[in-house]
Parts: sequence; structure tokens; C-alpha cells
Amino acid sequence: MNIKTIGIIGAGKVGIVLAQLALKAGYQVFIAGSASADKIALTVSVLAPGAIALTSKEVAERSDVIILAIPLGKYQQLPKDELDGKLVIDAMNYWWEIDGDRPDLTNPGVSSSEVVQQYLSQSRVVKAFNHIGYHDLHDESRPEGASNRKAIAIAGDSAEDIREVTQIVNNLGFDPVFIGKLSEGIKLQPGGQVFGAHVDAPQLRQMIKNFAIIK
Ligand SMILES: NC(=O)c1ccc[n+]([C@@H]2O[C@H](COP(=O)([O-])OP(=O)(O)OC[C@H]3O[C@@H](n4cnc5c(N)ncnc54)[C@H](OP(=O)(O)O)[C@@H]3O)[C@@H](O)[C@H]2O)c1
Repeated sequence: MNIKTIGIIGAGKVGIVLAQLALKAGYQVFIAGSASADKIALTVSVLAPGAIALTSKEVAERSDVIILAIPLGKYQQLPKDELDGKLVIDAMNYWWEIDGDRPDLTNPGVSSSEVVQQYLSQSRVVKAFNHIGYHDLHDESRPEGASNRKAIAIAGDSAEDIREVTQIVNNLGFDPVFIGKLSEGIKLQPGGQVFGAHVDAPQLRQMIKNFAIIK
């Protein structure tokens, strides 16, 4: 697939930085908040000029790939029908202070991206961009081959989708590190050592390996 448009659902801290990086990489960018497009249009025009504010349904319909950047607890508000058949990158995390008590999201044996995949049953969900803080995402993006380039982990079930997301992570300025199936994404979540990590690819691989040992 020739990915030209990246949609971002969630126009908050991480959504805006992802929009900035995607624009810089040459993608067309569509972005949505929880309400109508005009509610975020000014913010988007100032912080990510060139990105187009739409509703989340429109973002889902019009984008080749959609990144989810809303509070995880609201995943059931995602436009499921419009996301049917789409490649979806899940950058969300469970955060108790924001999401509250959520038994559906806190089974220690199930990655939250598997829960999202179950809900978006006709989409192809890949986990990426969740473990790095938005400041680091903003500050650490570097061209391929640059020294001290940081890495972003990717977990997913389809080789073809992983290839696409690998390319996107690379284009947005990070070394992609594939860690395994979507279920392995549990290693990237809050509570684990990788969560919050902004390290290079060899260090990230080592951390993933250590997680397997601790587990
Ligand atoms: N902050 C980080 O450093 C970071 C890093 C990696 C991943 N993440 C993950 O990314 C997600 C967003 O984090 P954040 O820090 O960017 O949060 P944030 O600043 O609070 O932004 C959340 C955004 O999601 C929007 N939103 C809420 N419900 C929505 C819905 N139903 N449909 C469309 N948009 C909706 C909000 O829009 P309104 O303002 O209109 O409600 C807001 O634009 C979380 O799951 C977080 O764990 C965060």
C-alpha cells in the first residue's frame, strides 16, 4: 500500500506531536478531537499548520492509516464502522487517573491493544508510539542513520501491516523495533520497563529481552 495520508484521532499532546512529525515526513495529515472540527481548527492551524481538522469519522474514512491517540478508556467511542478494513496504529495506554477502574483494560495477561483489536474487529490493529512520551517524541525525531537516533517498538500480527508501520515509524524519525505479536505489546505498557523509554534500538531490544526474563 502506498501510504499518503495519516489520520490521527485525538488532538491532544501526543496527537499534535504525531501530526507535526507526519507533516514533516511529507504525509497529508487529518486530525480529530472529540467534537466538531471547528473546535480544534485554530489549535491545529497554529500547532500543526498544514494538518486538516475533521471529525473522527471523517478522519477514519479519508486516511490510509489512522493513529489512535485518545484516552484509552474511551476506545468504545472510536468510529468502528468507518475504521473497518483500515490499518490502525494504537498509541493508547491505560492510565488509572484518567481512565478510572476498568476491568476490561486491566487483565494482566491481555495487552490493551488486543482489547482495542477485539472492539475494532474489522480493522488491523498494530501497537506503536505508545511507550515514548510526547516531549521525547517531539525532541528526539532524527533522520535515518543519524547518531543517537531513538527507537520505537512495534507489535502486531500481520507481516504486511508491520512493514507499513515500520516505514511510518522510520519516516517519523525513529528506528523501528519489531517485538512480536499484538499480545507481546503488553511489554510496552505502563508498569513495564519499556514504558517511557527513549533509548536506541539495541537498548530497546535488550529491555524487551529482560522483560521476558522477569516475566
Ligand atoms: N502524553 C504522552 O506523552 C503520551 C505518549 C504516548 C501515548 N500516549 C497515549 O495517547 C493517548 C492520548 O494522550 P494525550 O496525553 O495526548 O492526551 P490528551 O492531551 O488529554 O489528549 C486527548 C485527546 O483525545 C481527544 N478525544 C477524547 N475522546 C475522544 C473521542 N471519543 N474521539 C476523538 N477524540 C477524542 C481529546 O479531545 P477533546 O479535548 O475534544 O476531549 C484530546 O484531543 C492516551 O491513551 C495516552 O496514554 C500519551
